[in-house]
Amino acid sequence: MDESTPRYRRPAFAGLVGVSQVLGLASVVLTGVWMGRYRGGFAWDGSAQQFNLHPLCMVLGLVFLQGDAMLVYRVFRNEAKRSVKLLHGVIHLLALIISIVGFVAVFDFHKAAGIPDMYSLHSWCGLATLVLFCLQWVMGLVFFLFPVASSWLRAAYLPLHVFCGLVLLVMAVGTSLLGITEKLLFSIMSTYSQFVPEGVLANVLGVLLLSFGVVLGYLLTRDEYRRPPNPEEESLSVHFKTLTEGGLPATP
Ligand code: HEM
Repeated sequence: MDESTPRYRRPAFAGLVGVSQVLGLASVVLTGVWMGRYRGGFAWDGSAQQFNLHPLCMVLGLVFLQGDAMLVYRVFRNEAKRSVKLLHGVIHLLALIISIVGFVAVFDFHKAAGIPDMYSLHSWCGLATLVLFCLQWVMGLVFFLFPVASSWLRAAYLPLHVFCGLVLLVMAVGTSLLGITEKLLFSIMSTYSQFVPEGVLANVLGVLLLSFGVVLGYLLTRDEYRRPPNPEEESLSVHFKTLTEGGLPATP
C-alpha cells in the first residue's frame, strides 16, 4: 500500500457500522411504536390502520433496507464479489417488495376514504423516489447481476449507479421527513406546539432517520472503506482504459 494512502481503521469502521444499525433499527421500531401506540395499530381493510402500514413499510424498505443493501459492499469488502453482489440484489429486492406494499397501503386507503392522490410535495417526492428506485434496481440487475452489457459499458455505468444509489438514499430520508411533518399536522395540529409525547416521538424519529442517512453517507463515500481492487476488477479497468483512451495496458 502507498504510504500516503489513508489506512483502513477497522475499530472506527466497525463502530460506525454498529451506530448505523442502531439508528436504522431504532427508526423502524419508533415508526412501529408511533403507528401502533398512538395511531391505532395496523390492518388491511381500507381504514386509517391500513394507512399506518405506509410509514412502517417505507422506513423499513426504502430507508433501512436500501441503506443496508449499499453497506454490504463495505462490510463484506474482502468476500467474493459475486456473493456480495447477490446479497446486494436480494436485500434490494426485499426493500422493493416492502416499499410496494407501503405504496399500495396508502393509495388503497386514499381510495377507500375518497382522498385525492398526489396533491402534496411529500407524494411527489415519494413517487419520484420509488420510480427511480425501481429503475435503479432493474438497471443494476441488467448491468451487474446478469451482465448482458459489455464490460466497458458496465464500467462506464458503475459510477452513475453508485451516485444514483446515494441520491436515492437522500431522497428516501428527505421524503420521510416531509411525510412525518405532514402526518403530525394532520393528526395533532392543535397540540403539536405543546410538546405532546406523540409529536416529540415523531420528531426524534426524524432525527434518527437523518442521522442514519449521514452515517451511511460517510461510510459509503470514504475511500479507505471501499473494496480493495482485485485482479478481475483491475483487468476490467485496464480494458476500459485501453478502449476509451487508446492506451496500452501497462506491462509489469
Ligand atoms: C421513502 C419514504 C416514503 C415514500 C416514498 C412515500 C410516498 C408517498 C406517496 C407517493 C404518497 C401519496 C399517496 C397518494 O397520493 O395516494 C404518500 C402519502 C402519504 N405519506 Fe408517505 N412516503 C414515505 C414515507 C412516509 C413517512 C415516513 C410518513 C410518516 C408518517 C409518511 C406519511 C404520508 C402521509 C401522511 C401521506 C398522505 C398524504 C399525502 O398524500 O401526502 N410517508 N407517501
